[in-house]
Amino acid sequence: GRVRHYKWEAKYEFKSPDCYKKLAITVNGKTPGPSIVAQQGDTIIVELKNSLLTENVAIHWHGIRQIGTPWFDGTEGVTQCPILPGDTFVYKFIVDRPGTYLYHAHYGMQREAGLYGSIRVSLPEGESEPFSYDYDRSIILTDWYHASTYEQVAGLSSIPFVWVGEPQSILIQGKGRFNCSTPGIQASLCNATNPECTPYALTVIPRKTYRLRIGSLTALSALNFEIEGHNMTVVEADGHYVEPFVVKNLFIYSGETYSVLITADQDPSRNYWASAKIVSRNSNTTNGLAIFNYYPNHPRRNPPTVPAPGPHWNDNEPRLTQSIAIKSRQGYIHPPPQTSDRVIVMLNTQNNINGVRRWSINNASYNLPHTPYLIALKYNFTDAFDPSPPPDGYDFANYDIYSVAKNVNATTSTGIYRNKFNTTVDIILQNANTMNPNNSETHPWHLHGHDFWVLGYGKGKFDKTKDPKNFNLVNPIMKNTVPVHPYGWTALRFRADNPGVWAFHCHIESHFFMGMGVIFEEGIEKVGPLPKSIMGCGDTKGFHRP
Ligand code: C2O
Ligand code: CU
Repeated sequence: GRVRHYKWEAKYEFKSPDCYKKLAITVNGKTPGPSIVAQQGDTIIVELKNSLLTENVAIHWHGIRQIGTPWFDGTEGVTQCPILPGDTFVYKFIVDRPGTYLYHAHYGMQREAGLYGSIRVSLPEGESEPFSYDYDRSIILTDWYHASTYEQVAGLSSIPFVWVGEPQSILIQGKGRFNCSTPGIQASLCNATNPECTPYALTVIPRKTYRLRIGSLTALSALNFEIEGHNMTVVEADGHYVEPFVVKNLFIYSGETYSVLITADQDPSRNYWASAKIVSRNSNTTNGLAIFNYYPNHPRRNPPTVPAPGPHWNDNEPRLTQSIAIKSRQGYIHPPPQTSDRVIVMLNTQNNINGVRRWSINNASYNLPHTPYLIALKYNFTDAFDPSPPPDGYDFANYDIYSVAKNVNATTSTGIYRNKFNTTVDIILQNANTMNPNNSETHPWHLHGHDFWVLGYGKGKFDKTKDPKNFNLVNPIMKNTVPVHPYGWTALRFRADNPGVWAFHCHIESHFFMGMGVIFEEGIEKVGPLPKSIMGCGDTKGFHRP
């Protein structure tokens, strides 16, 4: 493969992605940042200069497994020390598989401040996809808040707790539209005619077929994406070929990517709305809109129709149906091991710890240590984190997932799950009621460093003896992010075959901040010498830095 060298500068700049002016974190002046476009086997070098002046930073390459380079996963507190203001950090890794991936900040809640972008890896020369299309396009869906991440972080960690609330806008490829005449909005901060908030236009040539790569990096929202009058054939999910199926509505959760094929086969004399609507939460955020523009119509000509309202937020059934419909494509199936060596059931709960609202897994809410795990484990800094592992399950017999827990206490922990190298691990994500009656949320879980097989989804409480009999061990899709639906469970299987330390967490930015995640370690003894550039914090303060 060839080497692709990028020079990036992360910086705060005033932006108006939804017409409302606020500080955003940009890469080379843009949010979304520059796309990484590469071919399988290429080496990516990103020289990242932190010009945020008063803030640390780190960037995670979401979906890239970092085989042999666990120290460049970009997860602050897990695989590296933060990059200090003024410093330049060099990430260097290989993109070993074709597909659609993402990158984003992995420090504090900076992702939702705008530091994100897409990674597109194509097949090597001479190889072809099992489907055909004329053009390849990428978009990223996000939600957008007007409050700064500082205000949000302060609210989330204070007593009384201040929730971030619903986003002000939905952005499609960095563009949305907030209603500037909303009462209380300062006129000087909101300008409906600012070209920065012109809806994104996806221009298509009549009768051509487009591969649209759609990624979601929302801070909070689960979305429904649709293009008025056009069907979408799902062909890829998180870098894996899907047995094709057709949808009108594509549900997409934060951290997921899909490729869909769309043929521009409708009346070419007009444009059409593409819209993104929040589902799973009762939000009053306006739907995000983009223009599906048939060439040669003007890309700014509004479609003559009213945008589709989208599905009802509380209709869980079609979302579960889509999850279940995603299977590996015939001829591209990597069958999972038929048995596993370990099963970890992870009960997802909302808790109160010393008056602070948190999320926990089996009653443990994670806290990141001062010394990143990868360094602490490799150098044997035994006091860097809690040596006792979090529990492998919960009080199955006595816990009622359908009601608010009788005892909402939990503990914070820096403990980690250690897996024997080359073993097979099953994870059962079990959802439950939140601290509000009759409420259970959707959580998109993302695993670093691996793909997992999605063995099944179910409603209610997972039954360890009954439910595994229905696991799909024939053609399950492999993914790196998967939803756990309200009051339901999701079963995953992965091979602990990538030496390093890896985060597994809810991809909702505020949930992760509130402790909704765990850490896995495997094969630490096989990890090569760590680059000094990842050090400089915690127990590695005195270590040489570049
Ligand atoms: Cu895309 Cu740890 O996240
Ligand atoms: Cu969550």
